[in-house]
Amino acid sequence: MCGIVGYCGKRNASEIIYKGLKQLEYRGYDSAGIAVVSDGTVSAVKKQGRVANIEAEAKALRGNVGIGHTRWATHGKPSDENAHPHSSGKFTLVHNGIIENYDELKARYLCGEKFSSDTDSEVIVKLLDKFYNGDILATVKKVTDMLKGSYALVIICADFDWLVVTKRANPAIIGYGEDGNFAASDAPALAGYCKEITVLQDGDFALLTADGVSIFDCNLQGVIRERLINLAEPASLELGDCPYYMLKEIREVPASVERTYLAYVSVESRIKRILKDVKRVIVTGCGTAYNSGLIAKRYIECFASIPAEAEIAGEFRYKNPIITGDTIVIAVSQSGETADTVEAAKLARSMGGKVIAVTNAPYSELTRQADAVVPVEAGSEICVAATKSYTGQITALYLLANTIAGINSTEAVRRLSVMPELCNKMLECKGIDAIADMCARSSGVYFLGRDIDYAVALEGSLKLKEVSYVPSEGYPAGELKHGTLALMDIKAVAVVIITNEQLAGKSENAVEQVLSRRGKVAVISNVDGIEKRLQGRAEVIKIPECDKYLSPLLTAVAVQLLAYKTALLLERDPDKPRNLAKSVTVE
Ligand code: M6R
Repeated sequence: MCGIVGYCGKRNASEIIYKGLKQLEYRGYDSAGIAVVSDGTVSAVKKQGRVANIEAEAKALRGNVGIGHTRWATHGKPSDENAHPHSSGKFTLVHNGIIENYDELKARYLCGEKFSSDTDSEVIVKLLDKFYNGDILATVKKVTDMLKGSYALVIICADFDWLVVTKRANPAIIGYGEDGNFAASDAPALAGYCKEITVLQDGDFALLTADGVSIFDCNLQGVIRERLINLAEPASLELGDCPYYMLKEIREVPASVERTYLAYVSVESRIKRILKDVKRVIVTGCGTAYNSGLIAKRYIECFASIPAEAEIAGEFRYKNPIITGDTIVIAVSQSGETADTVEAAKLARSMGGKVIAVTNAPYSELTRQADAVVPVEAGSEICVAATKSYTGQITALYLLANTIAGINSTEAVRRLSVMPELCNKMLECKGIDAIADMCARSSGVYFLGRDIDYAVALEGSLKLKEVSYVPSEGYPAGELKHGTLALMDIKAVAVVIITNEQLAGKSENAVEQVLSRRGKVAVISNVDGIEKRLQGRAEVIKIPECDKYLSPLLTAVAVQLLAYKTALLLERDPDKPRNLAKSVTVE
């Protein structure tokens, strides 16, 4: 949510910042802007809409120091005025986060000031201008001490050739380049420019010049923060021959599964130590990560016979969870930044529980809050809709559940090792286009399944509505007749996932119930004879035979392709669905 980039060096800043913003556009695309300093003057361009809207004007900006922003609107609608950067006097800044007490600060310190936006962020820059006393770091500290809420800020001043960066509860990294230094929300912005980065901690202040970076803690004492390898590679951000990142990333599902199970061995012994005496497991996350948590719950209960719950992170935090020393909380997050998930992890630890992070982001805040980390090796995921990270999470959680059950990973890895090839076969599967056509014309799509298939049904529904805007629900197949069946008519589509041989008959009852109400049906299944039974009455996608617990890796590919193809038929941009951003760093 909101991407920020800053540069201070020997090259023209706006060109570098523009490229960085393009790489961070998954964090928000309501508006974009860039400001540069040159000879004591700040010049800026900012506009509503995508980063590309500022390309022409950005090219004309000249200066070696600059900042940029791509916005996901929270306070103030998407508009040119509310686009960042915001300026006051000599100061200009970009902000990611939410200032909760901005109204109070306005009333107390900025009475009579003229504001040019509705944003909380403009209050910060006005305060900097008001309280500036010649000591920039002291001024930034004074102002940020007044703020309630979350922020990552990059600040420039017309008088100087430097940037100040500070953060609380929102990510900010520093990058070390050959001909300058950088600030950004996330590593992809710096791919190709910086081999090394530093992840700032809450309350840190960094002063960047063309020649160096100084970092200070919350008391303005100089500190040394670790330099880490920037894992974001320029090549991994290329679209290649794919028209959209969503397709590219679905095609990377097999590699994500394989890399994730290969990486597990390096963390297994640490996980075993953390798991000693575990009596109860809570898996938490948001959106897709929660949906993979539902699968993990089944794995843990089936393999380890330990009670396991899956909780939406934003709910978990506010329901007085019961956490004891023998409770393990597994926090699942692609980005490792999602505020609700990070806060849930903090809460669990503060209550004496142990936290295992399952994440695609090794340097993220979630990893810092965890006792142990299970890596998801999906690689950079740019499309707002999670695809390869979901299958990576399922792989990691499968391995983790085996470890909880005391089963050595060698056997679990052996079972997983056939899955990349089977996922590849799914990428070639026929029949998705016809179902996408049905979905695109429908009034609503109902994803149904039982047990583990129900968890994938929820994910299928989330994916479809997120990228195509077709109304959709995920439902347990058995629940259909208890209410949702009322929605079935000639315009409705049911996508029924059936991979459990024992429950197939019962799920097929749901198929018949929909058909008898004239709804259209698509079935995703590996059950023998199902095509024949439904011939001429429903579309059937046959998935390859596999271990019954690993079928979500295959059905996931089918529902992801279905969402993608439906979005294209409806002329949606699947990479940047309306109103959304990839990392939600506010509550
Ligand atoms: O980065 P996270 O995994 O913590 O993100 C959680 C959700 O915001 C995310 O999974 C969201 O639901 C996806 N856009 C769904 O495709």
